[in-house]
Amino acid sequence: MKPGKRSGIAPDLLSFMMGCPKMRLAALSVFCLIPAALAAGPADYAGAEACRPCHAANFTSQSNTSHAHALAPSSPSQRGDWAFGAGLQAITFVTKVDRESYREDGLTWYRSIDGYGITPGQHDEKGVGFRTFDPAARILTCFACHSTGPLSLGKEDAVIPHELGVRCEVCHGPGAAHVGDPTHNPLRTPAQLTAAAMNRFCGQCHRTDSETGEEITDLRDPRNARDQTLRLAASACFLRGNGRLNCLTCHPPHQELDQNAASYDGRCQTCHANKVHRQQVAGLACVSCHMPQIPDGPNLSFANHRIAVYSPGNPLLPATTHAAR
Ligand code: HEC
Ligand code: HEC
Ligand code: HEC
Ligand code: HEC
Ligand code: HEC
Ligand code: HEC
Ligand code: HEC
Repeated sequence: MKPGKRSGIAPDLLSFMMGCPKMRLAALSVFCLIPAALAAGPADYAGAEACRPCHAANFTSQSNTSHAHALAPSSPSQRGDWAFGAGLQAITFVTKVDRESYREDGLTWYRSIDGYGITPGQHDEKGVGFRTFDPAARILTCFACHSTGPLSLGKEDAVIPHELGVRCEVCHGPGAAHVGDPTHNPLRTPAQLTAAAMNRFCGQCHRTDSETGEEITDLRDPRNARDQTLRLAASACFLRGNGRLNCLTCHPPHQELDQNAASYDGRCQTCHANKVHRQQVAGLACVSCHMPQIPDGPNLSFANHRIAVYSPGNPLLPATTHAAR
């Protein structure tokens, strides 16, 4: 949405590359965000379809996630050229205007109202233009976070994603060699990462709130509602959980986000089996009180990943924290 300068490349280096047309393609390949894949080219990526014959169950379930549908060409009934967002909460449309620029539409489709409203970060229906190769590279970063493998350039400098959506090789690394000979070319899984490294890994994309692109760590700012990684890292459960709590504790990587709040109870109870409350909580989901939804603008909301005790009127700031006691 508001990608800022999260490309992982020093802004000065980026503007140098963008200023020189012959360097543009080189710069694009750097937009493949996963460090292990930095040196990889398009031929190193096999695409999700290639995994299907041997990993059918993971393929089928991952294909039905918001990750897999995070980017698509707009359908005839939609606006613009590209539809960003799977529609779990919203879809924003992006259009190629001319050789030099793209426009992010001023109107976004929101599930909560089943209709159009002003795009987050914008002020009216006009839309906002972005130069494709400006130093902040906003349009390139949109494509980079919502697709898999290196970006390339087509006719009239059109940005071409290698594979639509967040697919297998975002998390497992380039897989062409593995497809050819799985035994001698094993792939990694992020499950091997420590909890802190997992936050950084998922956080390459899951920290998209910032207007300015600066590192924002002020958890009191509601614009940081969607910073799942920073918020989780500030939770007592994370800080005192001896590395046992990470994104995968609650989000199986090949499954769609579970929006049934009670389904998370069992995950809390692996560590809090014997918690007895002073108040009546039976029948209510743990996360409804301890990970409350924070509104972000009129039509979006995000679960507060800073697990804590909240009072009903304030889903943003914990009523009590271990730090305060
Ligand atoms: C020709 C069959 C085949 C194809 C195609 C294939 N795999 Fe595999 N994959 C295997 C086999 C066999 C193993 C087990 C290898 C071993 O343990 O020696 C494996 C293991 C894995 C693992 C497990 C790693 C671990 O540590 O547990 C991952 C992840 C994986 N494959 C991902 C992929 C992805 C992503 C693709 C598509 C890009 C893919 N595979 C395509 C056969 C295949
Ligand atoms: C390459 C960028 C990227 C990486 C890396 C990534 N994600 Fe995502 N993730 C996205 C995008 C983009 C969406 C939005 C999908 C949509 O359009 O709704 C998303 C959506 C999700 C959702 C569903 C909620 C929603 O709003 O759609 C969950 C849960 C999630 N990611 C968890 C993870 C976890 C856990 C990891 C690390 C193992 C991870 N993601 C790594 C880009 C990424
Ligand atoms: C740093 C990676 C990153 C960049 C850059 C990025 N997105 Fe996203 N986008 C995400 C992730 C992650 C989500 C999932 C939202 C969440 O739950 O955190 C998402 C969600 C969305 C959604 C669903 C609604 C929402 O806000 O959750 C839309 C629409 C969207 N992005 C459009 C865009 C557009 C258009 C751009 C470029 C202007 C863009 N994104 C740039 C990572 C990114
Ligand atoms: C958001 C990150 C992410 C994406 C996208 C993803 N995986 Fe995985 N995958 C993981 C993680 C994390 C594990 C380890 C899971 C565990 O140990 O519970 C894993 C495990 C695996 C394994 C080995 C264990 C098993 O479940 O058999 C295979 C095979 C695999 N993935 C294949 C795929 C394929 C094929 C795709 C695409 C269709 C895919 N993955 C997409 C994160 C991801
Ligand atoms: C991996 C284990 C683990 C999991 C899973 C876990 N927690 Fe925790 N949680 C902890 C630990 C450890 C503490 C710190 C306890 C202490 O120091 O007394 C804690 C603290 C808390 C606190 C007090 C927070 C504060 O700031 O005072 C609440 C509330 C809480 N957990 C609720 C939950 C809920 C709800 C879930 C599920 C959504 C959950 N926890 C999942 C380990 C976990
Ligand atoms: C203790 C359980 C738990 C952990 C750990 C956890 N999440 Fe979540 N997550 C949830 C719950 C609950 C929701 C809200 C589901 C719903 O919409 O009803 C959620 C929602 C999300 C969403 C959808 C947008 C939002 O914020 O509501 C994304 C994206 C997401 N999580 C990513 C992550 C990432 C990345 C990590 C690791 C940094 C992570 N989560 C760790 C429980 C967890
Ligand atoms: C109706 C809201 C509500 C629900 C539902 C709820 N809690 Fe709580 N929880 C609270 C409040 C308020 C406190 C602080 C007072 C107390 O300890 O009773 C608390 C305290 C806690 C603490 C201790 C925090 C500390 O400071 O020591 C833990 C752990 C916890 N809850 C876990 C859970 C788990 C696990 C569930 C689901 C099985 C759950 N809660 C369901 C409201 C709720």
